[in-house]
Formats: sequence, structure tokens, C-alpha cells
Amino acid sequence: MKTELLTSKDIQHAGGLLKAGEVVAFPTETVYGLGADATNELAVKKVFTAKGRPADNPLIMTVADVQQLDAFVVISEAAQHLMAVFWPGSLTIILPTKPGKVSMIVTGGLQTVAFRLPDNDVARAVIRAAGVPIVGPSANTSGKPSPTTAQHVWHDMNGKIAAIIDDGPTQIGVESTVVDMSSKVPTILRPGAVTQQQLQDTLGVTVIDATSTKSVASDVIPKAPGMKYRHYAPDKKVIMFDRLDALDLKRILQSNDVVMAQDTTIAVMQLSLEQSWSLGETLENATEQLFAGLRFYDDEEQITTIYVEKMSPIGIGKAFNNRLAKSAGNQEFSI
Ligand code: TXA
Ligand code: MG
Repeated sequence: MKTELLTSKDIQHAGGLLKAGEVVAFPTETVYGLGADATNELAVKKVFTAKGRPADNPLIMTVADVQQLDAFVVISEAAQHLMAVFWPGSLTIILPTKPGKVSMIVTGGLQTVAFRLPDNDVARAVIRAAGVPIVGPSANTSGKPSPTTAQHVWHDMNGKIAAIIDDGPTQIGVESTVVDMSSKVPTILRPGAVTQQQLQDTLGVTVIDATSTKSVASDVIPKAPGMKYRHYAPDKKVIMFDRLDALDLKRILQSNDVVMAQDTTIAVMQLSLEQSWSLGETLENATEQLFAGLRFYDDEEQITTIYVEKMSPIGIGKAFNNRLAKSAGNQEFSI
């Protein structure tokens, strides 16, 4: 298949491809997604094939407005409240499905479905042009870091999907927060830009953070996304480190090793441009750069190990550390 590269001006064309059951990669504020008509099972199957995704890992449905949800799910008052406060934005909400309304191929056989309304004009315009909700998993090959540029998507999906809409680099850089509102107690299944504190403040109740970087046995139904499969991992060895250990790390660094760290840490370690990837100065900069750096070094043949600095676990730093721990298979530098 020849993959077309589209711009944000090609909305109608992209909508037409989606209507015709084709797969189109689209931008969001978090990472790029792989879109297909969520009501067309053949189209949805193409997404699993393009990603190489296991069939029991459910897909998110991406909508352009709240009305698009009505046909598929029952929306509780609490869920409505979250939508009013955080949508459009980086929060994916899991709700119980109306019986028989959502394809089992989308839900992976679960009785719940995840919804997201992205904070990106192009994404919403494309969904409107398609006239249906679209599934929207991250547009990477299953197991690889999520794509934050159209070039990353091209790297993984060229020849496998109909088109990619280039809208420049994404702003946030890690996937949305996933909150399960189908359980008795609201539960975070994946940390993202919307934090546990923000959710608690909005709902006025305790929100559980079930985030776990440990794998579980593969015959258990996954409660938290990414618990079951190795995620976000490049082929190169990734090791996380604490900034307090920066000078010890510097001492053992080989010429084939590289370091991804904040500017102050790079300065302390006196690393060359060739041996370092700047994670900027803020938690937001770092999060935006994480997957781009991992993808860059993954393609550099001579590199053997990528050391990545852990962030303070506040705000979006929690999401950064979660994705980093998964990429590193929890491996940490110690002396
Ligand atoms: O920011 C994002 O959410 C991006 C952009 C493209 O929208 N999308 C994304 O989709 O990250 P995906 O499929 O890569 O991640 C969705 C996660 C998966 O780990 C999946 O297991 C989980 O959400 N998930 C989907 N439906 C679920 C459900 N009904 N119950 C529990 N987990 C669910
Ligand atoms: Mg993903």
C-alpha cells in the first residue's frame, strides 16, 4: 500500500478515506493516533494488523463532541463532570457500554469502552468529516515508543496504512491519563497530563492510582493498560538514573553510551552534544522530548545503552517516570 502524507488542509480527503474503511494516522495533543471508523469492524481490524497489536488489548474511541458518545455508553453524573472540566483534553474515560452497541473487536471482549476527546482542532475536524467516532490507539508499532511526530509515524507505518496527517510535533508527548469510571471507585489505569489530584479535586472523592510498571501473567484480563505487554520499549538497552548519581554515571560511561537528561544535569556531567539528548529545563519539556529521544537513539547503530534521568514525581513527572520505567524494563543505574 502507498501511504499518502497529508497536511491539516486535507481534512475532507482524510475524512473520505476513513469513511471508506481506510486507516489514517492523525495528530492529537498527546501523541499521534491511528484512526479508523470505530463502527466498521473490517476497518478496526486493519488497525490491529498495522500495529501488530494483540486482539485482546482494547482500543480507545475518539470523538469530536460529547453527543457522539450517546449511542454507545451510559454517562454517569461523575463522568459528565469530568468531561465538562477536562474535555477537550488529555483524559480518557472508561465507561460501561450499552449492550451490543460497541464492537467486541474494539473492546477486546470487555463490557466497557474508553473514550477520548482530544485537544487538537485537526483531530476533531477529521472525526467530523468522517461522521463517526474513530478508534485511536497510538500510531506506533505495538511495543515501540508512541510517535510524537508524523515522521515517527512514517517510520513505523509507511506502506501499512492509507495516509498520515502531518500537524507538526505533539505538545504533551505522552499518552492521555486513563481513568476507569465503570468501577465503584474511580481508578487511574495510566498516568498522564491530568493528575490524580486534579481528578480528586474535581470529583470530590478519592481516586485510586492503580498505575503499575510490573507485568502480570498473560492469561489475566489486564486491569491497567500496559500491564500485560512490554510497552514503549526501544531495541537498545534503556537504564534510568537519579540525578544524584550523575557523577558516578559519568565515571562509568562508555563511548557507545548516551545520556538523556535535563540541561542542568548535562552541564554537571559535562557531556558533549553527541553524547547527550536535552530534556530541557521543565517537566513539560522533558515529557515532550522523551519518546523522540528514545526513537532517535534506537536508530543509531553504534549506540548500545541509553541512560535517562528520572524526573521528580510531581504533576506530569509521574507520567514521565511511568513511561521511562516501562522503556527501561525497570532497570536502574546503581553503583
Ligand atoms: O493519548 C492517547 O490516549 C493516545 C492518543 C492517540 O489519543 N491514544 C492511546 O491509545 O494511547 P492506546 O490504545 O495506545 O492506549 C489506550 C490504552 C491501552 O493501554 C488499552 O489497554 C487501554 O487504554 N484501554 C482501552 N480500552 C480499555 C478498557 N475498556 N478498559 C481498560 N483499558 C482500556
Ligand atoms: Mg499505545
